[in-house]
Amino acid sequence: PAEKGWVANLLHQYQGFWHTTRQLQAVLTCQNHFQAQETDILLVTTPKSGTTWLKAIVFALMNRVKYPNTDNNHPLLSENPHILVPFLEYGLYIDSQVPNFTTFTSPRLFGTHLPLVSLPESAKNSSCKLVYLCRNPKDTFVSLWHFTNKLRTKDMGSNSLEETFDKFTRGVSLYGPFWDHVLGYWKESLENPERVLFLKYEEMKEQPKLQLMKLAQFLGCPFSNEEETRGAVDGIQKLCSFENLSNLEVNKTGKLASGEEYKAFFRRGEVGDAKNHLTPQMIEKLDQITEQKSHGYGLKF
Ligand code: A3P
Repeated sequence: PAEKGWVANLLHQYQGFWHTTRQLQAVLTCQNHFQAQETDILLVTTPKSGTTWLKAIVFALMNRVKYPNTDNNHPLLSENPHILVPFLEYGLYIDSQVPNFTTFTSPRLFGTHLPLVSLPESAKNSSCKLVYLCRNPKDTFVSLWHFTNKLRTKDMGSNSLEETFDKFTRGVSLYGPFWDHVLGYWKESLENPERVLFLKYEEMKEQPKLQLMKLAQFLGCPFSNEEETRGAVDGIQKLCSFENLSNLEVNKTGKLASGEEYKAFFRRGEVGDAKNHLTPQMIEKLDQITEQKSHGYGLKF
């Protein structure tokens, strides 16, 4: 089925989730061609859950021996996280491209918004690690609405908050239904905790250091005492903070090959902004859906 949705594009439902036409082609190409390696690390999110942040953190973590200095000459100071950690189904497999992986060193890092059910078979069957970052649906929705507004041009018609909200609650949003996406990975993380690490945006904001250490442990590169003493954890946390990344020249002025400005990926970076945009009724509705969908699975936002 098709439904008018994201920006001006038609959304198509595939394996239970919604994609734009161009996106769906990329998903299919990726499913047909991607060969996962055991050492790959996939960073998975729904759009606007903190993908940019997660990419920066994992890049910095996995490359900390090569780039121990987070104040000087670090790639994240001069390059956007989406370039350093490309998306499988955006950058790499878009428009039937056959990606060139020869420049990738192991462990390869990829980002993806693919739901669990749509991951390429080779990724499902390999022991590569998955890090899933979720964010509460209220802030995710508001962030998504702002983002799509930024990408719109005048001829694209209406994108009212109410209309977009209605679609989101019916599951019609990019890579939605939001709840099915999150729950798919949540359940997998309970069944296979050594393979899937489930993180929450809100906990990363509250206890960044603790979450960073958890992530390093999961990825098989825990911080040594020596690293902790010399402030390596704090260095990465600071380097990847919203304040730091959003104020870098590259992120203020650069853009992706597909045209999106990097600055569109940095708005407020806070928890709870939804209450500044949604009515109490809207908040209640999202809470109700969340309760219904996640009831019995133990997932709390
Ligand atoms: P807001 O719109 O609520 O500000 P994504 O990277 O998945 O596209 O998500 C974008 C959201 O993450 C935006 O949320 C953005 O501001 C926030 N964000 C980007 N970088 C961040 C960082 N380093 N720390 C915390 N939040 C960040």
